[in-house]
Amino acid sequence: MEDLSLHILDVVENSIDAGARKVEIKIYEDLKKDLLEIEIIDDGKGMDEGTLEKALDPFFTTKTVRKVGLGLSLFREAARMANGDLSIRSEAGRGTTIRATFQHSHIDRKPMGDLEETLFTLIIGNPEVVFSFAYLKNGKMFNMNTTGLKKKLPGNYFSSSEGIKVLRNELNKLDGF
Ligand SMILES: Nc1ncnc2c1ncn2[C@@H]1O[C@H](COP(=O)(O)OP(=O)(O)O)[C@@H](O)[C@H]1O
Ligand SMILES: [Mg+2]
Repeated sequence: MEDLSLHILDVVENSIDAGARKVEIKIYEDLKKDLLEIEIIDDGKGMDEGTLEKALDPFFTTKTVRKVGLGLSLFREAARMANGDLSIRSEAGRGTTIRATFQHSHIDRKPMGDLEETLFTLIIGNPEVVFSFAYLKNGKMFNMNTTGLKKKLPGNYFSSSEGIKVLRNELNKLDGF
């Protein structure tokens, strides 16, 4: 995977597979501290101890449909390549938090990529999930959540042309943020 946004997509897919109804994506960028942090918090089914222990093993998967199991281990590798690391906190029945850190300026730190497209894909593809997104960059904050946005829409859903327009407009604000 070339871009961090694709890793985010991948990690959030895990949350969706785990039955999450609510997913929080947080990005923290601080050039003074030379730090980039990505955190994904879900309220899915969580992991028991056995699963948690193996979650970072390449090729470990509890999926039955398409067996891969590389998602989290590749994300950790991306973090470690950039002088950072990945941690998992998870509680069965409660949810999971994945946190990855990177040295912002590290030559091997992958670029963020198309965050706008990643969020658009996730939100349109999972209309029943509440997404919130917070991006704190050098003291500036970008915040959005699908509950708030949907309130502006007739019928409270995105998958109309009006809904897609509202979502696009909101995500466009990330341009040059
Ligand atoms: N958010 C999550 N909630 C519950 N279980 C998770 C979550 N993320 C990962 N897992 C567990 O860790 C395993 C490995 O995840 P991953 O490395 O992304 O591979 P894959 O998704 O292909 O199985 C998953 O099969 C699942 O059992
Ligand atoms: Mg996965």
